[in-house]
Amino acid sequence: MPDIVENPENYFRQLVPERDALLMDLEAEADAEGIPIVGPVVGGLLFVLARATRAQSILELGTATGYSTIWLGRGCSQAGGRILTLEYDADMAERARKNIARANLSETVSVCRAEAIEMLPGLTGQYDMVFMDIEKQDYRAVLGQLEPLVRPGGLLLADNTGFKDADAFNQAIFSASGWESVQIFSYLPKHSGIYDGLCFAVRL
Ligand SMILES: C[S@@+](CC[C@H](N)C(=O)[O-])C[C@H]1O[C@@H](n2cnc3c(N)ncnc32)[C@H](O)[C@@H]1O
Repeated sequence: MPDIVENPENYFRQLVPERDALLMDLEAEADAEGIPIVGPVVGGLLFVLARATRAQSILELGTATGYSTIWLGRGCSQAGGRILTLEYDADMAERARKNIARANLSETVSVCRAEAIEMLPGLTGQYDMVFMDIEKQDYRAVLGQLEPLVRPGGLLLADNTGFKDADAFNQAIFSASGWESVQIFSYLPKHSGIYDGLCFAVRL
C-alpha cells in the first residue's frame, strides 16, 4: 500500500495555485455576494488545459463576473486563442466585460449577453474547447446542442457534475457514442462545492 500524505485536505490546500490581485478581488467579491465561481484549482486547470492544447477557439457557458474566463484567457491568449463566453444576466455580463478589460483580455474574449440554450443552435464553426458552467439541470439539453459545435478531438469540461441536477447529463454522456468521457470526484478548495465532480470529455 502506498503511503498517502497525512491529512490530504491540509496538504493540498497549501498547493492551490497562486493568484494576482485581480483574481483575489474577484474571489473576495464572490465570497461576499455568494457568486458560485470555480475557484483557483479549477481555474488553474482551465489555464493548463487551454495552454496545453493550444486552444484557438473556446466557448464558455456561464460567465458570471469573468473569473473562470480570465483563467481561460490567460491560458489561450499566448497562442492567439479566442473565447466566446455566454451569460444571460445583463449585470453580470457587464461586470465580466469590465473585469476582462482589467485583465487586458478584451482582444481575446467576447462576452455575449445571451441565454445559452437559445443561442447555441445559431452558432456556426467548431470549438477546440468548451467549458460548461450554467444551471446544472440544463446540461443535458445543452449536450446535444454541443455535438456539432465541438470539433472531433475537441474537449468538453463540465463543472459541478457532483450536483444532483447534473445526473441526467452524467448518465447521457456516460453512454453517448459521440463522446469519450471521464468523471473525477475531487477536493477543490474555494470551489463552489469544495468536494465536487468534474467531467472531461473528448468529441469522437
Ligand atoms: C456558476 S456561475 C458561473 C461562474 C463562472 N464560470 C466562474 O467560475 O467564474 C453560472 C452563471 O451562468 C449564468 N447562467 C445560468 N444559466 C445560463 C444560461 N442558460 N445561459 C446563459 N447564462 C446562464 C448565471 O447567470 C451565472 O452567472
